[in-house]
Formats: sequence, structure tokens, C-alpha cells
Amino acid sequence: MVGRIEHQLRADASRNSLVNPELDRQLLLDSLRHTENSAWVYELDDDIGGHLYGAVLSDRCGPVSWTGPDGSSFDGAEVLDALLLEAVREWRGRGVKEHRVWCLSEPARVMSWTDSGYSLFSVRGARELVTHDSRSLPMGYSLRRGTPDDFERAIELDAVLDTAQAVDVRSKSSSELAADQEDLFATLNDLETHHYVVEFDKRVIAQCVTFPAPPRRGSFDNTLYLSEVVVDPHHQRRGVASAMLDAALNDAIAKGFRYAEVQWRSANLGATLYWTSYGFHPTYVRLQRTL
Ligand SMILES: CC(C)(COP(=O)(O)OP(=O)(O)OC[C@H]1O[C@@H](n2cnc3c(N)ncnc32)[C@H](O)[C@@H]1OP(=O)(O)O)[C@@H](O)C(=O)NCCC(=O)NCCS
Repeated sequence: MVGRIEHQLRADASRNSLVNPELDRQLLLDSLRHTENSAWVYELDDDIGGHLYGAVLSDRCGPVSWTGPDGSSFDGAEVLDALLLEAVREWRGRGVKEHRVWCLSEPARVMSWTDSGYSLFSVRGARELVTHDSRSLPMGYSLRRGTPDDFERAIELDAVLDTAQAVDVRSKSSSELAADQEDLFATLNDLETHHYVVEFDKRVIAQCVTFPAPPRRGSFDNTLYLSEVVVDPHHQRRGVASAMLDAALNDAIAKGFRYAEVQWRSANLGATLYWTSYGFHPTYVRLQRTL
């Protein structure tokens, strides 16, 4: 399995330069040996024709199974179907509600999953960081770092983001909404987080949050993660987000970050167009299927 994962990661990195081919072989072997989750392999003439691994974790909707970029490989659609047949049977038995998969953003690979009933949920985009002149904000706008006094406005802007990402806020229970707010407060309070806000007429009309991305298969070290990037609808398409991000990314470069990553919902057309126009390229896509 480790051999297949190494081979696939190298092949993916040769097709997409924003995918990191590095892998700690011993660490992967040890984690596969000691995991409590099942891994399935498809045997073919004394060889392995595919593998599938899902980490079962609890989420707000109940237990879900996560398959990362190294969690699957398959020589053909029939191999994936055979692996899923076994895996889904076990996951359902454990009460798993949903299977979520990260797969290289490549049409053929994505189609293998969509043909098996999976739908596209979000895109992970990355770009290399190179020093560039920051574009200026339009007249009347100013940029500063956020403070605890901005938390309430941060929640309001987060709601704008949810709407753009087609998150059905009305279907969320009050405890889910409270949990979202707690998550946002925890992020903003984290010492490694930078919160940038843009003001117009003494009112915060845009924000973004940056923090070091956690180590992830396929991502490079020294990657900055961008989150909560949102501009009040009345102030969009004036270059506010671009000037704010130029400043945030130049700060990150000065601190030694070499890459930036962001995630957006595939249903969010504005974000898709914005991130690609800003120089981000899709690396992985997240697909999911209700079990
Ligand atoms: C995405 C968003 C942050 C962009 O902010 P913005 O200040 O309007 O962006 P800019 O004015 O700097 O846009 C720069 C370029 O991005 C592209 N772009 C931005 N928004 C776009 C949209 N809705 N449709 C098409 N292209 C868009 C355009 O090429 C634009 O240049 P142009 O206006 O000269 O054509 C803003 O639309 C927003 O807050 N959306 C809702 C929240 C959201 O989806 N955030 C991203 C979540 S991952």
C-alpha cells in the first residue's frame, strides 16, 4: 500500500507542481500498522490493484469517514467499486453517515468518484508566494489588524460568507450556530492567527484570517492558510479583497511562508472566479456521499 501511495503522490506532483510529493515512509507504515480503522486492498494476480482507507471521526452530523489524498488508489473503476462495496458495508455497520474524500483535481480521477455516486463539495487551491507590490485600497478604505472589538462584526461577515458558500444557515440549530461562533472566536484568539480588517466610514466592511496550515499530505511545509475572506456585498468588485490579500501575503512572505492555500465551496462561483483570478490553482477536490 505504501508503495502505491508513494507512486501515486509522485505521479500527482509531476502533473500538478503545487502538490508536494514528499512522504515519510516509516511514519506512514507505522500509522497504517497502528490505526484502529480498517484499510481494504484489492488483490489481483498476487499484486495489489487498489486500496481504500477511511478514518472514522465524529462530526456534528455524527460519525463520518474521511479518505485523504493517500487513502485511495485504484486501477480502474471496477476496483474502486469493489473496494467501496466492502468499506461502505463496514462503515454503515458503525453508524457512519457520510464518506468524504480528497482526490487530485483531475477530471478522470474526479469522474471515478462521481460515477460511484459522489458529489463535488469543495476545492483546495494553492499558490506559490512571491514578493510583489501590494495594490492599494480604493480611496476612503483603510486596512488594520483586527482586535477583540471586531469579533461581533466578524460574526456578521461570517454570515455573508455562509450565504455565498450556499450554507443553509436557517437549517442550523441554535447550538450549531453557537458552536460556529465558538470556532470563530477560538481561531481569532489563536496566537498564530492574523486577523485583517478593512474599514470604510469607520465600519469594518471586509476581513480575512491567516494562520500556518497544519501539515497535510500533498501540501508543502511553510504553507499559510487563508480563511474567512469576505467583503461586504456593497463593497465588492472594487479591489478591496485583492489589496487586503496582497498585504496579508506580503506579511506572510516576510515571515518565511512559501505557499498559500485556501478552500472554497464548488457551488460558490464568485469565489471560484476570484481565487483563480488571484493566481490560486486547484490541487485537490473534496467529494462526498451520504451512506
Ligand atoms: C470573493 C470576494 C472576497 C472578492 O472580493 P472583492 O473585493 O469583490 O474582489 P476584488 O474586487 O479584489 O476582485 C478582483 C477580481 O476577482 C474577480 N472576481 C471577484 N469577484 C468576482 C465575482 N463575483 N464574479 C466574477 N469575478 C470575480 C474579478 O476578476 C475581479 O476583478 P474585476 O472586478 O476587475 O473584474 C467577495 O466577492 C466576497 O466576499 N464574496 C463572498 C464571500 C466569499 O465567497 N468569500 C470567499 C470564500 S472562500
